[in-house]
Amino acid sequence: MFVIPFTLLLFITILYYFYQVNKYKVLDDYPGPTPLELIKFMLLPKSTTDTYEFFVSLSKKYGPVVKIWIKPFRPSLLVSDGKFVKNILLSKEHVNKTGYFGLLRTFVGDGLPLMSDISLWRQERKTFSHVFNNQFIIDYISTFKTHAIKLSEAINENLNKPVDLQVLILRHGLNIVYDLLLNEDISKQDDRVNRYMKSLRTFFGVYYDRINSPLKMIDSIFKLTENYKIWTNTSIESKKFIESTLKQVIELKKNNTSGKSDRKDFVDLLLESNLSYDRILENIRTLAVAGSDTVSASSGFALYELAKKPELQEKIYQEYISILGTDKNVCAEFRDIQQMTFTECVIKESLRLYPPVPFIFRALFNSTEIGGKIVPGDIDIIFSIIDSHYSNFDDPAEFKPERFLPENASNIPANAYFPFSLGPRDCIGKIVAIKLSNRNFYLATSSEIIQCIQSMIIKLIYVVKLF
Ligand code: HEM
Repeated sequence: MFVIPFTLLLFITILYYFYQVNKYKVLDDYPGPTPLELIKFMLLPKSTTDTYEFFVSLSKKYGPVVKIWIKPFRPSLLVSDGKFVKNILLSKEHVNKTGYFGLLRTFVGDGLPLMSDISLWRQERKTFSHVFNNQFIIDYISTFKTHAIKLSEAINENLNKPVDLQVLILRHGLNIVYDLLLNEDISKQDDRVNRYMKSLRTFFGVYYDRINSPLKMIDSIFKLTENYKIWTNTSIESKKFIESTLKQVIELKKNNTSGKSDRKDFVDLLLESNLSYDRILENIRTLAVAGSDTVSASSGFALYELAKKPELQEKIYQEYISILGTDKNVCAEFRDIQQMTFTECVIKESLRLYPPVPFIFRALFNSTEIGGKIVPGDIDIIFSIIDSHYSNFDDPAEFKPERFLPENASNIPANAYFPFSLGPRDCIGKIVAIKLSNRNFYLATSSEIIQCIQSMIIKLIYVVKLF
């Protein structure tokens, strides 16, 4: 009874497969892993490190453009060379995202970094570029300062005791971003924030499990697994966490009873831009994660390198006291942090060696030229930021902040360093940075994010040295 439909289906699938193989024939010239390598990658159990190393090894083995067939009927090219990065990332046309990030939507909401509705994304990108303006960021530097003091107090409490610095820093990053987005200080709300942080960690555990076993990326298969319940519950918890504050904030604004200063905050600016409540909620949910997790990861890695190199700690400390002296009650202001050139190089080098977003994805919109060949429009491109950060630098595994000193920065090839991505869909912080910075920012980095991380590191070193 089933034989005829089954044979028909098999026949159609085979026909379609050959049609696709023929359609993408031009990609045959690009090297890439064998079907056996791919099947092993898809089916064998592995850790996140294995997945990460698999992708990193591909560029090493096959060069700057690698063909990969992970999706059954749609190939991807893994690209790691600045000159290929240019025609796609810098183009106004190829702004559509694809890939692993889409899975995050359940937990982090459908905000700017994940949006696939391109006309809506264009509108909202304009709104957010307007909102993240100079004055807004300068006003909020005082927020960073207050939180840096709180972090140093938390560290002082734990001095000479073993402490999970990453948890402390993530909590600190979340406090800052929450304050920045919702004008709410959550540093005292331990239970609520701990629940959210626990959900965040649990959700990401499941997310990486899905990425490591590509079959679980198919929703209908994933729904049959135990983790589906965890995935749903943690996502509900995260939405509740942001929504409870947002509702209250908007209600107080409507009744004009917020008791806050007249300064316009982030929500005021979004409301003025006529963003609906749902869109504000989705974006704040996303930004809370996009802002805190990345910043905490990069500061964690910078601290890890600094912990191994007392001579770098000393240089940062000397730079700090040359600007601010040794009075522990004095805290760095925006203008002070801008003068801390060496500290900034440490952050940049940490973002090179450990980019918090090592891979980014684009779905090609139209056929385009990559490595001298015209490739069809309906393929995916994976950009390996991490590989570009290694292959374009001497002694790539060495932590050398001096590479980013203004006199050395001209040795870095164009588009080779892009921790915040490049082009129209790059990190929104970078736009702010370019406007903010009266210096000519010589690399694609975001100064206000760097300054936020700096404020934490400076505080940490300051604490370690003075106490
Ligand atoms: C060290 C810290 C950070 C790093 C390394 C980082 C990195 C990135 C990268 C690589 C992208 C682009 C992804 C792509 O091209 O597909 C991105 C996008 C984005 N980032 Fe960041 N980010 C950081 C911090 C932040 C912060 C603090 C915020 C805001 C509070 C933020 C908001 C965004 C937004 C809204 C986008 C999406 C832009 C769009 O799609 O139009 N990021 N970030």
